[in-house]
Amino acid sequence: MKDSDDRLCQCEMYAAVTERAAVAVGRWLGRGDEKGAQEAASEAMRAGLDRLPIEGQIVVGNEDEGDPLAIGTTVGKGGDRVDLAVDPIEGASILARGDFGAMAMIAVGDPDTLPRFPNMYMRKLAVGPTARGWIDLGRPVGDNVAAIAEAFGRNPQDITTIVLDRPRHEELIDDIRAAGARIKLVPDGDVTASISVAIRGTNDHLAIGIGGARQAVIAAAALRCLGGELQAQLWPITRTEIAQAAEYGIDDVARVFTLDDLAPGEVIVAATGVSNSDLLRGVRYLADSARTHSLVMCTRHNWVRFVDGIHFFARERREEVRLLS
Ligand code: FBP
Repeated sequence: MKDSDDRLCQCEMYAAVTERAAVAVGRWLGRGDEKGAQEAASEAMRAGLDRLPIEGQIVVGNEDEGDPLAIGTTVGKGGDRVDLAVDPIEGASILARGDFGAMAMIAVGDPDTLPRFPNMYMRKLAVGPTARGWIDLGRPVGDNVAAIAEAFGRNPQDITTIVLDRPRHEELIDDIRAAGARIKLVPDGDVTASISVAIRGTNDHLAIGIGGARQAVIAAAALRCLGGELQAQLWPITRTEIAQAAEYGIDDVARVFTLDDLAPGEVIVAATGVSNSDLLRGVRYLADSARTHSLVMCTRHNWVRFVDGIHFFARERREEVRLLS
């Protein structure tokens, strides 16, 4: 991830790619077609990446070999080598339902730095800068809630946790309730949850639970940019998955991965809202343009930007540019 001019950052070109994917897939909101949405997002993101002056290796992407963003695919029109972790539509099912919180996301790392994981679950714990250094995935949930409360100087009752609404989290939810913390159950999207706890003003403090390994890498890159912390451990549910982990060089499935393991070196993260969330507005379509809202971050330049984009469909303009309402 070299910059020819130190004042320039490549994060904007990646933001253009997530914006493009979001504008393409936003039209699938509420259409009940998860597969169609996934295909549209993958195709649009791939087309966007192929316009960039990079030789990008998809390290974290789709498992299907035929997908335009399949793991192992090289994208871009040639240039600097980079590792890419892509999630063209994080929350495809929520988008298909017409629900809140779908995003298009990319994390970019230096070549050969982003970790490769089999397609399985990870148990994760994520916090923002205030609670960085206070959490421990090896400790009971109650201890982590108490530590986070202390870090914030608040009562545990005033700590908000975010948990994916899944049957596998029943015991976790009982433990959080016993610890006294609040719980925000979300239907999908644990990357959004991890970013949300690292941004003050959301009133979210801890993202916890079992979600995808792919999402752990992207969330870790985002938390590097935001100064938060994430710990994650593979959560194999069959012997086959334990064997798969070994094939990826992970013999100790109990190993706890930190930000330095999941997103080492310099990283760039771009995320564009597809449907509305507390963090980002979803895509809005006007007569001759679409409006996007993105979060664009980079460790090299230490930048965090919320970007409001207006994308005109043609040179001929009918509508005026409006202030953000
Ligand atoms: P996808 O959009 O890729 O399906 O991911 C949505 C998501 O909610 C992730 O944020 C989360 O890590 C994962 O699904 C959880 O998996 P599952 O739906 O199998 O519980």
